[in-house]
Amino acid sequence: MSTSKRKILVTSALPYANGPIHLGHLVEYIQTDIWSRFQKMRGHECHYICADDAHGTPIMLHAEKRGISAEQLIGEISTEHQRDFAAFAIDFDYYYSTHSEENRELAETIYSRLNDAGHITKRDVEQAYDPEKEMFLPDRFVKGECPKCHAPDQYGDSCEACGATYSPTELINPVSAVSGAIPITKSSEHHFFKLQNFADMLRNWIKQGHVQEEMANKLAEWLDGDLREWDISRDAPYFGFEIPGAPGKYFYVWLDAPIGYMASFKKLCEEKGLDFDEYWGKDAKTELYHFIGKDIVYFHALFWPAMLEGAGFRKPSGIFTHGFLTINGEKMSKSRGTFIKASTYLDHLNPEYLRYYFAAKLGNNVADLDLNFDDFTSRVNADLVGKVVNIASRCAGFIKKRFNGKLSAEIDQPDLLAELISAGDSIAESYENRDYNRAMREIMALADRANQYIDQKQPWVIAKEKDKDHELHQVCSMGINLFRILVTYLKPVLPVTVEKSEAFLNVAPLTWDDRSQPLTDHSINTFNPLMTRVDPIAIEAIINAEQKPLDAPSALGVKRGLKKVPEEKTTAPKNPSIANDDNSTITFDDFAKIDLRIARIAKAEHIEGADKLLRLTLDLGEMGSRNVFAGIKSAYQPEDLEGKLTVMVANLAPRKMRFGISEGMVLAAGPGGEDLWILEPHDGAQPGMKVK
Ligand code: 2FM
Ligand code: ZN
Repeated sequence: MSTSKRKILVTSALPYANGPIHLGHLVEYIQTDIWSRFQKMRGHECHYICADDAHGTPIMLHAEKRGISAEQLIGEISTEHQRDFAAFAIDFDYYYSTHSEENRELAETIYSRLNDAGHITKRDVEQAYDPEKEMFLPDRFVKGECPKCHAPDQYGDSCEACGATYSPTELINPVSAVSGAIPITKSSEHHFFKLQNFADMLRNWIKQGHVQEEMANKLAEWLDGDLREWDISRDAPYFGFEIPGAPGKYFYVWLDAPIGYMASFKKLCEEKGLDFDEYWGKDAKTELYHFIGKDIVYFHALFWPAMLEGAGFRKPSGIFTHGFLTINGEKMSKSRGTFIKASTYLDHLNPEYLRYYFAAKLGNNVADLDLNFDDFTSRVNADLVGKVVNIASRCAGFIKKRFNGKLSAEIDQPDLLAELISAGDSIAESYENRDYNRAMREIMALADRANQYIDQKQPWVIAKEKDKDHELHQVCSMGINLFRILVTYLKPVLPVTVEKSEAFLNVAPLTWDDRSQPLTDHSINTFNPLMTRVDPIAIEAIINAEQKPLDAPSALGVKRGLKKVPEEKTTAPKNPSIANDDNSTITFDDFAKIDLRIARIAKAEHIEGADKLLRLTLDLGEMGSRNVFAGIKSAYQPEDLEGKLTVMVANLAPRKMRFGISEGMVLAAGPGGEDLWILEPHDGAQPGMKVK
């Protein structure tokens, strides 16, 4: 059914090894992963590679601030990134780092080929320099008063107050953000890539459909403007690769970042015995696609193809650009709690909800994508739980109990089955074109058809009637077959749920073409719920967990500064009966409802997979013991907590969290991180005592 086997190399942009993965990043990794999984399901040879983008001044300074080496920092961050990606089922074939020997060699090769061909030039550049730190300062590391609107504390490249752009030397009263010193202007020699040498090539390349139309228009504008030489060197101190033959000069992070795509693939070639040149050689016939965000189009659609062309490598077959993520209609914001880290989401919600939601919203354009939590909840509940999983749960029990787990030998309605099978071609086209929203709509329309069939047949009614066993068997077997086709179509989006479905269906991993062959006379396994509904409490918990302490209202009305531990708030969503309309004060009666008790921490344990939470077993004396998840891991080792007395909210309704049920909340104070202290009452306090 599928066309001949294609050889495809796919990449997502390399995340900086300087901070955690957040939901904004995940739009792209989920988008790429769906595409790569789809290609593999269709029987194509597809390699999905990525790496951490490990170089540059911010990473160097971050490591210095933490008192560790840059290598150590990027090692730690790489582990965290890969853990989060794995939890979201992002299935890279190889994940590497730009700080690798393969990348150094490739960067040197590309640079020297460009240099030999006359595409590199050198000249002196004047830049802001920190005389204390003895380093040149990137624009973002100089701060001062905006020369246009005089807003204080603005970055050296643009003003957040009036939007003006300027150079750091124009700032009024500039200071170095690194040391606080007043920067001086200093000159040094820089290496430049002559992008203008490739203007004609790029104009043609862009016309050939390698980028989306809306991007082609933007790029044409840039190409018709002033194509400037690109500064590709930075002076020491810098964390990166030194330029061969230029001591003290380093490749700018953006020079070796895209080369990291090649380096990561090279490593995969070594492991799997693949031919590197078949994918990167000048005349490669294989396909190469880069998924990126719209902020880095200039690098990928101008610099990158020009570098590849100039150094004698192939150019990308396609640059697939997406828009930014907004949350509840607004830019992600720490104070609103919508700058959501992947790990925070994972503490509370099933990652496949987000995979589905993004798929349902993503088209192949560069429009921004909004994560609206109400919409998220209703789509996941209505579509996945209500429509898809429901089909299996309505049929599986009868097959198991009444027919010994075996499906019927014939198909009840071959025409309906054929309708679902043939829809696969159009769904495949939608996936191929990255029109996932269309694919999801098509799949859900089929799920509606399947549910209509079951609603009409009413197996739960037939099951009670006499001599209707054959019909019941036919209907439920048909339902299971329809379910199988639907999960085949959803497999690129929901790999984990579909793997569980494969176990239930007792079938080998589903491929796209398998759908044409129905399951008849086939034994299935016991059905276990595949997915539960979204718990709205979990969403509130995520927002609370990410909200900046100072901006978070004190929902319990306790003294300012006595804040709840961020993740602990996840177990205690704002209770409408406690909070007033303005969310900041409560009445005395409300306060009286809160049962604060002394608790002894009988046991404290790490939780596998949780980066903030500890599991506490709290002894409340005669009131028994409670299991509570507390976000205090950044401040305490479990062994230091055991035996301590603390204060807990003992009458909080139990809350389901990713790691189990939390039955209360402990109180703590402090700005966060290591500076967080659980309250430790003394003077005769005993477990179970009421706090008055
Ligand atoms: O913008 C970013 O987050 C960069 N780290 C992306 C690099 S993509 C590629 F070119 F390496
Ligand atoms: Zn301004």
